[in-house]
Amino acid sequence: MSKTLFRIIAADHTGITVANLERSLSFWRDVLGFELSHRPHQTGNLASEITGVPGAEISIAVLKGYGHKIELLEYLAPPDRKHVDLRPCDVGSVHVALTVDNLHAVMSAIAASGWKAVEKEELRSRMTFSADEDFALQLDAEDPLRQFREKFHLPLGKNGRPVIYFAGNSLGLMPKGARAIVEEEMDNWAKLGVDAHHATGTPWYSYHETLREPIAGLVGAKPLEVICMNSLTVNLHLMMVTFYQPTKSRFKILMEEPAFPSDTYAIKSQIVHHWLDPKEALILAQPRKAELTVRTEDIVDLIQKHGDQLAVIMIGGVNFFTGQLFNIPEITAAAQNCGIIVGFDLAHAIGNVPLALHDWNVDFAVWCSYKYLNASPGAVAGAFVHERHATNTNLPRLAGWFGNDPNTRFRLHLEPEFIPVPSADGWQISNPPIFSMAPLRASLAIFDEAGGMERLRAKSIKLTGYFEFLLGQAGSNRFTVITPRKRDARGCQLSILAHEHPRELFKKLQAAGVKCDFREPNVIRAAPTPLYNTFHEVWRFAKILAEHQ
Ligand SMILES: Cc1ncc(COP(=O)(O)O)c(C=O)c1O
Repeated sequence: MSKTLFRIIAADHTGITVANLERSLSFWRDVLGFELSHRPHQTGNLASEITGVPGAEISIAVLKGYGHKIELLEYLAPPDRKHVDLRPCDVGSVHVALTVDNLHAVMSAIAASGWKAVEKEELRSRMTFSADEDFALQLDAEDPLRQFREKFHLPLGKNGRPVIYFAGNSLGLMPKGARAIVEEEMDNWAKLGVDAHHATGTPWYSYHETLREPIAGLVGAKPLEVICMNSLTVNLHLMMVTFYQPTKSRFKILMEEPAFPSDTYAIKSQIVHHWLDPKEALILAQPRKAELTVRTEDIVDLIQKHGDQLAVIMIGGVNFFTGQLFNIPEITAAAQNCGIIVGFDLAHAIGNVPLALHDWNVDFAVWCSYKYLNASPGAVAGAFVHERHATNTNLPRLAGWFGNDPNTRFRLHLEPEFIPVPSADGWQISNPPIFSMAPLRASLAIFDEAGGMERLRAKSIKLTGYFEFLLGQAGSNRFTVITPRKRDARGCQLSILAHEHPRELFKKLQAAGVKCDFREPNVIRAAPTPLYNTFHEVWRFAKILAEHQ
């Protein structure tokens, strides 16, 4: 700051001349939440002298809020006032900048009020980023979730410093609370043996019940619609046994390309299991020529084209390769209009993006818990069955004793008929795997403490937005981010196509202590997660890319 002979005590207010005071007032007060302080009316000599406009008559509204005042002025006289449509580049254009905690919500409120934001929201948030290291450190200092990093074990690199762990889309980090919770059950086993099924605070017999509410919260389901069991691909098979009931005319399945290989194997084997040919029965929604991700409108077109032949649609909610988040409600509605069952593989979506499976009316979904849910390698997976199916005990399924009504479950040889539980539990086959469920409890407690998916998503949008901004600075001719730019069309992962020496670049990242992964021939997938990654890590990652030749 330069030295002056005077001292400005505060920036008091910003005055804006408006065309219609009532309209502008409703924007600043009702949409942005400023408080109306007073409404002076100025006329006569004083008004002319203050403004320098002879004959000025002004109706004014003074608004207070957020440490600043906004003065809206509507000139009622003189009559020769000009209405100029200033562009930001025109001399005289002024702007007021506000710092907000949730830009997305602000933009939605502005749109709902009938006002129009000039730029796209994505562009606006990028404009506020800076490539300076200090800026990254400042974002970390301001991050309300920064303390959650401490709740995870961060693997150390060769230099003894934590690696930059952007591999949460593959295997989430170990919550520090996981060891104690597993040891507790180890102790129960040691001390109680078979009695631990019923005799502890967390009886093994109903251990899966402890996961129900938090998991239902993460996928936006009613508790009766979710069950934690098995592994993802097994659950996909179980769902397909129920929901893929091909007939002569309706036998096709629609998937996205590329789908995760295990899903493709599972779906093809389901088709073959019904003595059908995948070449005829499997339809793939592909990106258009020269495009990298699948357009929702193209999926909807395929649904309409094959509408009366499609039995099931099965799509990865967030694509494992591109990081694209599909429009789950739109695809579901389009499919159900044509009488098609819709299921999603949420391996890359759960714990990454907010979900509302019940309200979106999704028929079924499956997920694993070892990625963004940090529940340990191969940990228990989950399934969602919409209430309208979950309570239908007549649906065909593969049965096992834990899907049976608990009242008769232990009568075993006395009541041999299977009576399904009228909820998602009716698809449970075996007794709960305690040691694969226990770490998930530790992780879910962290999600709860962090305030749930909305808060995590707000940070995630910023973290990945910053990541993309820095990659853009690093040189768009050398890298193409194949993940969609729109925040509503992606989770935290960015898939970066490296045009020059991709394998060497990946090796450099590894040597610098970065954990991410490489997909042949040239794509690096990196997933900064809001629970344990920092803005500075994103900055360091982008620096390595920027320096790569
Ligand atoms: C999208 C997707 N689907 C399915 C799977 C397979 O999961 P599982 O081995 O738990 O069956 C994975 C594993 O990474 C995946 O990413």
